[in-house]
Amino acid sequence: MCGIVAYVGDKNAYPILINGLKRLEYRGYDSAGVALINSGALNVYKCQGKVSDLEAHTDGKDKAGTIGIGHTRWATHGPPNDVNAHPHRSSSGDLVLIHNGIIENYAPLKEELKHRGHTFKSDTDTEVLVNLIDDVQRTEGVDLAEAVRLALESVVGAYAIVVLDRKEPDVMVAARKSSPLVIGIGENGEHFLASDATPIVEHTKNVVYMDDGDLAIIDRHKGLKIRNIKNQEKTPFIHELEMHLEALEKGGYDHFMLKEIFEQPRSIHDSMRGRLNLAKGEVVMGGIKDYEQKFVNAKRIIIVGCGTSWHAGLVGEYLFEEIARIPVEVEYASEFRYRNPIIGEDDIVIAISQSGETADTLAAIELAKSRGATIFGVCNVVGSSIARVTHAGAYTHAGPEIGVASTKAFTAQVTVLTLLALAIGQKKGTLTGSRFYRLLNELEAIPAKVEKLLKNEAQIKYIADIYKDASNALYLGRGFTFPVALEGALKLKEISYIHAEGYPAAEMKHGPIALIDEEMPVFVIATKGASYEKVVSNIQEVKARKGKIIAIVTEGDTVVKGLADHVIEIPATEDPLVPLLSVVPLQLISYHIAVMRGCNVDQPRNLAKSVTVE
Ligand code: M6R
Repeated sequence: MCGIVAYVGDKNAYPILINGLKRLEYRGYDSAGVALINSGALNVYKCQGKVSDLEAHTDGKDKAGTIGIGHTRWATHGPPNDVNAHPHRSSSGDLVLIHNGIIENYAPLKEELKHRGHTFKSDTDTEVLVNLIDDVQRTEGVDLAEAVRLALESVVGAYAIVVLDRKEPDVMVAARKSSPLVIGIGENGEHFLASDATPIVEHTKNVVYMDDGDLAIIDRHKGLKIRNIKNQEKTPFIHELEMHLEALEKGGYDHFMLKEIFEQPRSIHDSMRGRLNLAKGEVVMGGIKDYEQKFVNAKRIIIVGCGTSWHAGLVGEYLFEEIARIPVEVEYASEFRYRNPIIGEDDIVIAISQSGETADTLAAIELAKSRGATIFGVCNVVGSSIARVTHAGAYTHAGPEIGVASTKAFTAQVTVLTLLALAIGQKKGTLTGSRFYRLLNELEAIPAKVEKLLKNEAQIKYIADIYKDASNALYLGRGFTFPVALEGALKLKEISYIHAEGYPAAEMKHGPIALIDEEMPVFVIATKGASYEKVVSNIQEVKARKGKIIAIVTEGDTVVKGLADHVIEIPATEDPLVPLLSVVPLQLISYHIAVMRGCNVDQPRNLAKSVTVE
């Protein structure tokens, strides 16, 4: 939530900041701003709206300066407007700051600062922080870096900040606690700072991921220094980015979401690469090497995540119980962290997160860790906070996901969970050899089957056109496809603003059936498999109440075809792998409905890609 970008070097900072903000806009897009220091002047430009609005706002203004900071906001304190937009300036006018996170004790700090003569223009916690740093700097007579360090001692909350001081025009100071910051090390002493590597990769592949409690001081002449919370100097560890610029572009598609849906044959394949070895008949998950016995002996697995990642976790529950015979509990990270859960040293907690930065998931991990559990991360973003705080893990390798609605991240998460369940099942001997090989073979065939079903786009678009004006929709699935029903409903509501609910198909009779009338589209995953006949009966129940059925069926199905208003065929596969195929038409139908309704598909209202506040 909120995107931060900063630059110091010998180039003009403004275009670098604007370009960086465009890359980060998926993290928040209600307002944007930049601050630049040039020849002793500190210029701040900010406004409500998108980065493109900011560009229009700065047209014709003085944008010179080789040091600057930029921000794109997802509002927490105060509505999205020009005044609450970042950067925020201290009331003395000397300091300017951008912030991602929440300062929890901002109210008492603000009162105290008011008594000390500071004035405030905005409703934000950020303006309190910049004045606090200014106050400390003046009272203690210290430089910017030390003022930031001392001020942060009084702060409760989460933050990633970058601060500039008009009086020290060659210095940039950054700090992080529970919100990510990456430093890019360019040529000729230039440095970049950002919430993630996407604005950095086009300038340099050399990055340093800041740890919680780190303070980074970047001096145009003296380079980068990192101090920890105890003011001890740390040697920065330089990583080489594997990200490619093309992955951050739309590549000819109208939206990132569509591109990411169509990338799934490749992203699923990438999630399996080097892990699934058909020739040897084995699954190799490097991430569990040191914890293999723990998994094999586990009495219980707890899966934590939020949103789409939680849905992937639900598929994981079915997978681990069926394939590896380990009992699983799936928890919303936000509930788990606050309800004093029973966790012990024998428990394995799997934390799932695309961004690797979700605040609730991070807090759930810390809690489980403090109780001695082994934590396994399933993350997409390399070097993210969750990837670094877990004991072990597996990256999903889906590549950058820019569309706010998760698509390829979900299928990659499910692929990794399938591989994990198969690896453990094989070690435990909970699967017959033939079933294991069948699943392995089928898993390897999934990318080609996704490729094939994506060819149905025209038909899916046709169905989208029929239901684009619906006010409500129901999604039904059973067994492995129940979580897919939840995910299908989430996709529709978050990008098209149509109210949608997912249910286990049989549960419909216990309440939601009351909603069904001739206006209600009901999306049913009715593929051939263990629950097929039961789902067919559920379809009959909907039809008897005149609901409109859009069914996802196995190729060649004739029974459901005779009942449903529309059928979308997907290739046949094993039950545990059906989520990887059946979710794709639901993603596409949501996408097309949202486009037809004129919605901003990649940046839906009120949402942000990476939820770094609780
Ligand atoms: O980055 P994470 O996977 O931890 O994010 C969790 C949710 O915010 C996320 O899955 C969200 O529900 C999706 N973007 C919705 O499509």
